Amino acid sequence: MRAVGVTEFGGPEALHLVDVPEVHAGPGEVRLAVQAAAVNPTDTGGRSGLYARMAGGVPEMPWIVGMDAAGVVDEVGSDADGRLAVGDRVMAIVLPSGSHGAYREQIVLPAASVVPVPAGVDLPAASSLPMNGLTARLALDRMELQRGDVLAVTGAAGAFGGYVVQLAKVDGLVVVADASEDDTELVRSLGADVVLPRGEGFVAAVRERFPDGVDGLADGSVQNAQVLGAVRDGGVVTTVRGYRGEDADADLARGVRVLPVFVRDYGQNTEALDRLREQVEAGQVTLRVADVLPAAEAAEAHRRLEAGGVRGRLVLSFV
Ligand SMILES: NC(=O)c1ccc[n+]([C@@H]2O[C@H](COP(=O)([O-])OP(=O)(O)OC[C@H]3O[C@@H](n4cnc5c(N)ncnc54)[C@H](OP(=O)(O)O)[C@@H]3O)[C@@H](O)[C@H]2O)c1
Repeated sequence: MRAVGVTEFGGPEALHLVDVPEVHAGPGEVRLAVQAAAVNPTDTGGRSGLYARMAGGVPEMPWIVGMDAAGVVDEVGSDADGRLAVGDRVMAIVLPSGSHGAYREQIVLPAASVVPVPAGVDLPAASSLPMNGLTARLALDRMELQRGDVLAVTGAAGAFGGYVVQLAKVDGLVVVADASEDDTELVRSLGADVVLPRGEGFVAAVRERFPDGVDGLADGSVQNAQVLGAVRDGGVVTTVRGYRGEDADADLARGVRVLPVFVRDYGQNTEALDRLREQVEAGQVTLRVADVLPAAEAAEAHRRLEAGGVRGRLVLSFV
């Protein structure tokens, strides 16, 4: 069975086609014939060995990354929840470990991590939604903002940031987002109420518009301490790379709460994933695919991702 993985950690070139044993769905699980797997920034940390080093121990090779899959259910285990049947076109979040990553043409997953694809959406586009859509939902849920509150979003042109903007608008928030000049129209089209230049001047620009600061901030560009100043005293920030405000005593002292979010917490949140499906069908959430590459060209996909500036997700095809 074909997969894309590494047998030695390294740069993009370490990724290559590998052969892995067939797998079968156990109780509460389904098996997918994967047709599309999105390429996310976190995949580069898996490929390089960063996460394996953090976990310690001897890594299981081949090591297969990938957190998003879309395909067709081809096996349903006993005690699966009854929602899914062989032949269903589905999308799923994958919590990778060792050889269990989304870059493989066959994967077994908890049924709870799998939902039907949105009507009218192709599998590559569907594969771009689960992981980042769920992370955006999780960040918004953790912040517990109220309708009418103001939310700032950095990295708004990216996958996570873009979904935060769209979901926040559905939640009734006022959204102020960052963008480069080239991305301004895109970010506006996602629904941001106010679009301000990204980068160093962002905090000052937010404060000019909202002198007391914003109620919440989702930091998709991972600017950490640099952007906490945009948030009002007692406001809340969600971070996506584990940052807890450890070097920002002054902001913590004025009551700013910094909450790291990890999508693992929503890895089996079927209701949230299915709600994202509905929101795509309702036109509230839009899917953006930059390019679809054959699985054998995964190295090229990682090179392009790491070069920066990709808008929309790169997707590997296993068809
Ligand atoms: N904790 C979790 O569970 C979780 C889940 C999902 C994602 N994440 C993390 O969330 C982050 C965003 O993911 P993503 O998929 O949305 O990435 P993405 O699509 O690459 O978006 C990131 C955006 O931030 C922009 N950016 C980078 N540096 C910036 C800076 N200094 N100032 C302003 N903007 C900047 C990027 O622009 P350029 O392309 O021009 O650089 C891009 O538009 C990643 O670090 C990812 O690993 C974490």
